[in-house]
Amino acid sequence: MNTLQGHLEERLEALFTIGAEISSTLQLEEVLQRIVAHVRRLMAARVSSILLLDPEEGTLRPAATEGASQAYLAQPAREVATSLTGEVIKTGRPLYTPDVRTETRYRVADLARREGLCSLLSVPLRARTAIIGVLNVYTTEPRCFEDSDVRLLTLLASQSAIAIENATLYREEMQAREQLRQSEKLAALGQLSAGLAHELRNPLNTVLMLIYAMAQDQGYPRQRTTTNGFSDDLRIVQGELQRIKLLLDQFLEFARPRPPHFQRERLQEIMEETLLLIGPEARGREIVIRRDWANTLPLAWVDGVQIKQVFLNLLLNAIQAMPHGGTLTVHISVGGGSLRVTIADQGDGVSPEVRAQLFDPFFTTKEEGTGLGLSISQRIIEGHNGRLRLFSQPGVGTTVCIRLPL
Ligand SMILES: Nc1ncnc2c1ncn2[C@@H]1O[C@H](COP(=O)(O)OP(=O)(O)OP(=O)(O)O)[C@@H](O)[C@H]1O
Ligand SMILES: [Mg+2]
Repeated sequence: MNTLQGHLEERLEALFTIGAEISSTLQLEEVLQRIVAHVRRLMAARVSSILLLDPEEGTLRPAATEGASQAYLAQPAREVATSLTGEVIKTGRPLYTPDVRTETRYRVADLARREGLCSLLSVPLRARTAIIGVLNVYTTEPRCFEDSDVRLLTLLASQSAIAIENATLYREEMQAREQLRQSEKLAALGQLSAGLAHELRNPLNTVLMLIYAMAQDQGYPRQRTTTNGFSDDLRIVQGELQRIKLLLDQFLEFARPRPPHFQRERLQEIMEETLLLIGPEARGREIVIRRDWANTLPLAWVDGVQIKQVFLNLLLNAIQAMPHGGTLTVHISVGGGSLRVTIADQGDGVSPEVRAQLFDPFFTTKEEGTGLGLSISQRIIEGHNGRLRLFSQPGVGTTVCIRLPL
C-alpha cells in the first residue's frame, strides 16, 4: 500500500470513528473538546478551534480550542458583521487565509504571531436548519490546503454540527426540566413560607410597638447614654426587630409578587436614580462607575419600581464582587427590537459550581446575603417578557445582560 492510499484510508477510517465518538456523549463541552482534538490531529494542524454563533447578539464566541494558549482562549467574542470568520457565517462557504499575520481583517495578528500561527482554513458548522458556528484550523507553516483537505474538514464540520446541535438541544431540554422543577419547588415553598411570614409579622408588629412604648417610658432617645444600659439594650432590640421586619417584608414581596404596572419610562433615568443610591458604597470601595449610553434612547414599557429593584440588585452584586475597587460599566443601547442593559464588573467572577446555583432562591455565598437578589430580578424581567443572562469569567469579572422588548 503506498503512503498516499494509506493516508486516505486512515482519514476515511478516522472520519467514521470520529463521527461515532463525538456523538456518543450529549455533554456539550465534551462534544466540543472531542471535535477540536480530532480535527487538529486529523488535519495535522497547530490549533483547531470552534466559534459558536450567538444569533441574538450577532457575535461568534470562542467555545473550544486545542493546541492554543490561555491568551488565545481568553479572546472576546467577535462581531459577525466585521470579523474575518464572520465571512464564513455570511457566505456559508469555506474560507482560506494563506497568512493571518498579514491579513488586515484578521483582528488578532499580534496574538497569532506570538502563537506561531500562519495559514487558516475556516468552514461553516452547518446544522439541520442553520449555520451554528465556524470550525477553524491553523497551521504554523504556510500551507496551501488541497481540495481534499477542504472536503475532509467540511465533512467533519457537518458531523460535528449535528453532534453540537444535539448536545445543545439536550442541554436546553435539561435546563427547561430543571426550571420546571425549580418553579414547582418554589411554588410549594413559597406558599408555605409566605403563610408563615405573614403570621410572624403580626406578633412582631405588636412587640415592636410595645418596645417603642417602653423606650419612650425610659426617655429614649433623649437619654441614650444612661449608665444602666437599659435604654441601649432597648435600642438594640428595636434595631434587631426592625431588621427581622425588613427581612419578612422583603420575603413577602418575593413570595407574593405584585403584577407589573407598565408605564413609559426612561431606562437611563431609572439607572441614574439607582446609581445615586449605590454611589456612597461604590466610592467607599474605590469603584469607578462608567456610564455608556446615548441621550436619545427610546422609552421603555416597564414597571419603573420593579426595574429599579432589578438595577439595584445587580449593581449591589457588582460592587460587592469588587471589594478592592475596579471599574463598573453600565451600558444601555437599543438593537434587535429591544433595549439592552449590561452591567459589567471587574470582580472575582463566578466559579462553575456557583454558576449552576446562581438563580436558585436563597442561594448565597455572602454572610449577610439572603440569596434572593438574582431570582427576584430574573422573575421581574421575565414578567416584562425580557431576558436576563449572566456571563462570568473567574478572575476577570461578571457581566449581566438584560433585554427588554420595545
Ligand atoms: N456580579 C457578581 N460577581 C460575582 N458573584 C456574583 C455576582 N452576582 C451574583 N453573584 C453570586 O451569586 C450569588 C447570588 O446572588 P444574589 O444577588 O441572588 O444573592 P446575594 O447577593 O448573595 O444576596 P442578596 O442579593 O439577597 O443580598 C451571590 O451570593 C454571589 O455568590
Ligand atoms: Mg445580591
